[in-house]
Amino acid sequence: MTTVSQTTGLIGAGVDRVDGPAKVTGAARYPADFGFADLAHAVLVQSTIAAGRIRRLGTTRAEASPGVLTVITHRNAPRLARGSGGLGIGPPAPLQDDRIVHHGQHIAVVVAETLEQAAAAARLVEAEYDAAEPLLDVSDPRAERVENASGRDVTRGDVPAGLAAADVVMDVTYTTPAQTNNPLGLFATTAAWDGDLLTVHDSTQGPAFARTALAVSFGVPEGGVRVLAPFVGGAFGAGLRTWPHVVLAALAARMVDRPVKLVLTRAQMFTSVGYRPPTVQHLRVGAMRTGELVALDHEGTEPDALEDHFAESLTRSTAVLYRCPSVSGRTRQVRLTVACPTWMRGPGEAPGVFALECALDELAYELGIDPVELRLRNYAEVHPQTGLPWSSKALRDCYERGAQAFGWSHRTPEPRSMRSGRLLAGYGMASAYYPYVQVACQARASLSPDGMAIVCSAATDIGPGTYTVMTQVAADTLGMPLDRVRFELGDTGMPPAPLQGGSGLTAALGSAVHDACRQLLRAFVELAARDNDSPLRGCSLRDVTVADGRLSASRAGGPAAGETYTAILARHGLAELSADGASARRGDLDAEPGIFAAKFAEVQVDPDLGLVRVTRVVAAVDGGRILNEKTATSQIIGGTAGGIGMALLEETLSDPATGRIANATFGDYLVAVNADVPDIDVIFCGEPDPMNPIGVKGIGEIAIVGVAPAIANAVFHATGRRIRSLPITAEQLL
Ligand code: MOS
Repeated sequence: MTTVSQTTGLIGAGVDRVDGPAKVTGAARYPADFGFADLAHAVLVQSTIAAGRIRRLGTTRAEASPGVLTVITHRNAPRLARGSGGLGIGPPAPLQDDRIVHHGQHIAVVVAETLEQAAAAARLVEAEYDAAEPLLDVSDPRAERVENASGRDVTRGDVPAGLAAADVVMDVTYTTPAQTNNPLGLFATTAAWDGDLLTVHDSTQGPAFARTALAVSFGVPEGGVRVLAPFVGGAFGAGLRTWPHVVLAALAARMVDRPVKLVLTRAQMFTSVGYRPPTVQHLRVGAMRTGELVALDHEGTEPDALEDHFAESLTRSTAVLYRCPSVSGRTRQVRLTVACPTWMRGPGEAPGVFALECALDELAYELGIDPVELRLRNYAEVHPQTGLPWSSKALRDCYERGAQAFGWSHRTPEPRSMRSGRLLAGYGMASAYYPYVQVACQARASLSPDGMAIVCSAATDIGPGTYTVMTQVAADTLGMPLDRVRFELGDTGMPPAPLQGGSGLTAALGSAVHDACRQLLRAFVELAARDNDSPLRGCSLRDVTVADGRLSASRAGGPAAGETYTAILARHGLAELSADGASARRGDLDAEPGIFAAKFAEVQVDPDLGLVRVTRVVAAVDGGRILNEKTATSQIIGGTAGGIGMALLEETLSDPATGRIANATFGDYLVAVNADVPDIDVIFCGEPDPMNPIGVKGIGEIAIVGVAPAIANAVFHATGRRIRSLPITAEQLL
């Protein structure tokens, strides 16, 4: 396998974001920035009950309101098919009948000449309901419980026997709250029909998936749907599905026969595009006095929607992080009249590892073993479930270098034994794992006589730096300066790419970009090799090196000969040479991929007020080859900020009687802001991973996983108080 060279210095270098200038000057256009001539605006009306039926929907006043073009309800909406999502089923088609299955369900769309007119008229829609008793609590005995809905429950060994033989059994229950993805960019869809051809600008993490969903919904061929998302204002997993409002925007455009823009409000972002489901997790951890784990039993419960469906596993890390002979990990979903949850920032692992790593911390105190030492004593040298070797694993390095950088050795083991002035100080740590998924991806590379290479794929960049690192991979592979390469994405007209999610896009897309560029280089070499006028005649790809856009071959006995890409194009009178590339998960290695990290946190707690400040974080991450030190560090910092929010601030509160979200604003739903986020020290460990030609693993989700337990464990160390319910608030500590 050919791998990226690292000879040009373009890989790994902390180059600035290539899309930075476009973003800061406003030239970058997000889904809500796109307009069309004759654009109309849609505003959603949402249910104010969680369960029941619409008895009456009065639309006359709204319809008579200035500028209103139409009001769409279940009475006049056409029948739509349930969209497919590519990942599991799509949400149920909206506005198909009078039934209500969650608070905030879309019940009408008002379309008007201006946004203000649509918003004003939306307030005039009168809804009366026959309310039914909602199901809002996972402990409600009437609710359907689905075991192993994710299909990812795990078991090995004999857990009851292991627990019976253990010297110590920790039996603990943790809870985490619902949290809302809350990207800064409000999700927006702008849709325009031209006959049966549909063009959509959308806040999606996968244009190809949105295209499929829309084609299925409207019963039109996929080739007739074009989805664009060159810039997306964040998503955190909310853009991994094509939600009902996307379909409604396209439906509105079809019904008024004009382009329509629909932008969710911040409040609507809490009920329309998923959220992290709350969890209840019960763990039993059996260990010997030596610290050796002998049994892990981890059971999680989460809500799911009644008619839509989302199931994550909370226990994958429990089966994989440690060499424990007996493990059972189970997650059940409970069907409730709630909006559908979805993937959010380290889905499954972020809450699951919180419970596991806090339980291990409790065990460390119980046994009087240093928390890092406890993890090292249970280090999984091979994948403990399959017995296969890891494709690469530098978690031991992460522990050691992380602890060193953090100054872990200064920790005094006793809780409440460290102070900073009048504040209690505490150190905590946690391990982290994420199982990235690399799926098939394609890309195209072309080079034109002006000496510019253009490489493209229908992927998205929701913020981690995909534009930049793909430009680096292409420039490195083609042997060209960065500023002669442009990477484009976010258009279904380009070769298909997977979702930007599951920490897998960099591996998939980077490998496809690498392949496309290798194929392009090969095409140039073959052209030159057959050309008697070329100094490279008779050469093969193997002989050729390329730098600064110039191909060179050293010949036995002669000086190096060469010529540039553009010289080859010119001599052959070509306006362009292009090549397609593809990548897939490597199937010939009997090895398990995995992303690992060790997180260390220091907190200071006010003993009188219970206020917690995170004062330092060290994140040591094994992400394989790091393509860009700067954007990668930025991703880990961002994920750490999300972890601080998860530990101390973020909680979506809903009224237990009605299901109404009670804090659906940025004034009430608290995210970590700069003042909450200290200096974060990011250390990359590990080496290029053999699972793909560019050696990457993916660092999207590992950034947040393990942060919340490291903080919770530090809070225990500072205060002696074990808080098992997130977020950790002053109220809980007092
Ligand atoms: Mo991520 S939650 O797979 O966008």
